[in-house]
Amino acid sequence: MTLASPVTLKEHGHIGVLHINNPPVNALSPATVQGLIDGLAAFEHKPQLRALVLHCEGRTFVAGGDIASFDAPDFSAVPYNTFLARLEAQTRPVVAALHGTTLGGGLELAMACHWRIAATGTRVGLPEVKLGLIPGSLGTQRLPRLAGAERALQMMSTGVMVGSQDALAASIVDELTDQPLLDAALARASALADSGNIRRASSLKVDTASLPADFFQQAKAQAASRPQYPALAAIAACVEAAATQPFAQGEALEAKVFMDCMKSPASAAMRHLFFAERQANKIPGLAHDVKVRPIQRVGVLGAGTMGGGIAMTFANAGFEVTLVEANAQALERGMGIIRANYEATAAKGKLSPEQMSQRLARIHPSLKDQDLGDCDLVIEAVFENMALKQEIAARLGKVCKPGAIIATNTSTLDVNLIAQATGRAADVVGMHFFSPAHVMRLLEVVRGDHTAPEVLATVMKLASKIGKVAAVSGVCYGFIGNRMAEVYMREAEFLLLEGATPAQVDAAVEALGFAMGPCRMLDMAGIDVGAKTVIELGKSGGLPNDPSYRVVAQALFAMGHFGQKTGAGYYRYEGRKPVTHEVTLTLCANLAKQHGIARRSDITPQEIVERLTYTMINEGARILEEGIAYRGSDIDIIWTAGYGFPDHRGGPMHMADTIGLRQIVASLNHYAQLRGNAHGYWTVSPLLQRVADEGGRLDSTTSPHWH
Ligand code: COA
Repeated sequence: MTLASPVTLKEHGHIGVLHINNPPVNALSPATVQGLIDGLAAFEHKPQLRALVLHCEGRTFVAGGDIASFDAPDFSAVPYNTFLARLEAQTRPVVAALHGTTLGGGLELAMACHWRIAATGTRVGLPEVKLGLIPGSLGTQRLPRLAGAERALQMMSTGVMVGSQDALAASIVDELTDQPLLDAALARASALADSGNIRRASSLKVDTASLPADFFQQAKAQAASRPQYPALAAIAACVEAAATQPFAQGEALEAKVFMDCMKSPASAAMRHLFFAERQANKIPGLAHDVKVRPIQRVGVLGAGTMGGGIAMTFANAGFEVTLVEANAQALERGMGIIRANYEATAAKGKLSPEQMSQRLARIHPSLKDQDLGDCDLVIEAVFENMALKQEIAARLGKVCKPGAIIATNTSTLDVNLIAQATGRAADVVGMHFFSPAHVMRLLEVVRGDHTAPEVLATVMKLASKIGKVAAVSGVCYGFIGNRMAEVYMREAEFLLLEGATPAQVDAAVEALGFAMGPCRMLDMAGIDVGAKTVIELGKSGGLPNDPSYRVVAQALFAMGHFGQKTGAGYYRYEGRKPVTHEVTLTLCANLAKQHGIARRSDITPQEIVERLTYTMINEGARILEEGIAYRGSDIDIIWTAGYGFPDHRGGPMHMADTIGLRQIVASLNHYAQLRGNAHGYWTVSPLLQRVADEGGRLDSTTSPHWH
């Protein structure tokens, strides 16, 4: 073993301890695996040692395989699996001492040991499915043998972490301790050496008698219903093998299907998102040691749907919240909705009555701006109108204490103008939450021209405290997300004018894996909201000189067809079920005639997908080019965490790379010819063209502004 090895064998009296030290999370890098192999060999050469303990330094036991090394051309799970077999075969007891988050390859390591002792509070899990993978180091075979087929299937198919008490009850760990972990593990190793009691998970039998007769049939059928996640079917097959076949056969099956999953586009996409999410938190040009401002009390101005959801988000994370509204009726209504939301969550059993009253008690309603004076952060969530936002900003500039951060929840407006109105632009930042704010994971953080570095750093740190994934956008109309969504909606509407129905457009996009197509989405969000944004954009001179631009939404708005809430929009609603609305189809045909747009009957799902998503990808490339986004991967995070873009496609930039950038460019050029390009809708972004020509990738492109 070299000095640099992350694994060292130490002797504690007559017990050997393999110490693993590979910060930050002791992931199994190739060097760590080699260190384990060498460490075990060293132990084998020391017959005087009576037992072996595996123990990790730092915040956690091994938290998984090193995801970063999975793409290495020579990646193979074989050396690790061979090591695990040798570890389990030891004739002297081997004890795993667990703490932190024992995940993936870490839990597989622990399960190959003869005894698992865990510090209270440890969490264990096999989260590979979240990366489009299956456990590849015999987790699919050992977990069912320890915890039963049902539990193992549930854990591996969802990737959830299990707390230490549950892990003990499920026999995944053998013992919990509140004592210093290493001492307790050494004592246990000693006792096991005395008793000679060694239990190997691989030699256990899965209890199949207690399973329903059609258990595996059901499990496989359920997995098959979600073919976009091939890991699910692989997990079901492996659990069945664990329950019905000898260990060696299950092992062979796992090895085969693991490699199939590893090569799947879904896994590449989900692994990309894992790192993209962590990367998004890193802000170019921000000094490493920039100080964050302390945030304890949060103010929210506006108790509508957004304001209420934002207040709940902070209350859920333990912050005291002051919620201010202009009039008593609106405040009461807002608090009523918050209460009803909590009650609904409690009714589902996801919140205890005590938790619910604690959270409610953290939200302090008020009718006075002055009550925001002691808040460290105030977020305005009033109606999307520049004049109103500026007036509020001016008031907040005065009422907020020095050093307080003033945030705006605008989803499209110019944050610089709002910042200016406060008279203290350095304190101002955009915090664009997505509706419902207490549910949606994304926080789009908008960096104004004058936003102070520590304000930005504070908000990014705060995002993880409130359970959000944050990505930074510069200032432009709609920022990253809504600016791209505008292009997507534009194409959806042109297709309606050309003869596609809302149902056709939605079905094509939903087949890609989108949670909801554009027409259903806008019907739900409110056509009034969408149309007003277009109208506002027009007033500020931001629309192309195209009289047919989004005329469908504007006409529906004029007719009072606001979507689901009025019973009609792009669709007509029977309860919550969208059905084809002849009125909309006739409207589209009339509008097409009025604007001289030729109707066609040959629009295919492929054309719909290409026109909606390739233009959006092109817009994403422009956003990168202008420095509005730092990186292509940030755009992927925004779309997957905030807009229902399927994670198994990795976001629009990653999807573009998978399709091939040259093909995207060719397709944009094709539609420019087909439809004409008078307004530049199909003009290929120079950055996209360049990256395509160079054979590069958009999902790893950094904006030229931030090099
Ligand atoms: N491989 C490589 N790097 C990993 C990793 C892994 N399995 N797990 C975490 N990291 C890295 C992260 O990229 C991050 O690096 P950075 O600081 O350079 O950005 C760092 O470790 C800390 O991770 P982070 O997620 O920010 O910390 P956390 O405390 O919030 O969460 C975990 C820790 C372990 C719970 C979380 O990282 C996680 O779920 N990891 C994945 C575990 C997994 O899927 N294992 C199975 C793989 S086979």
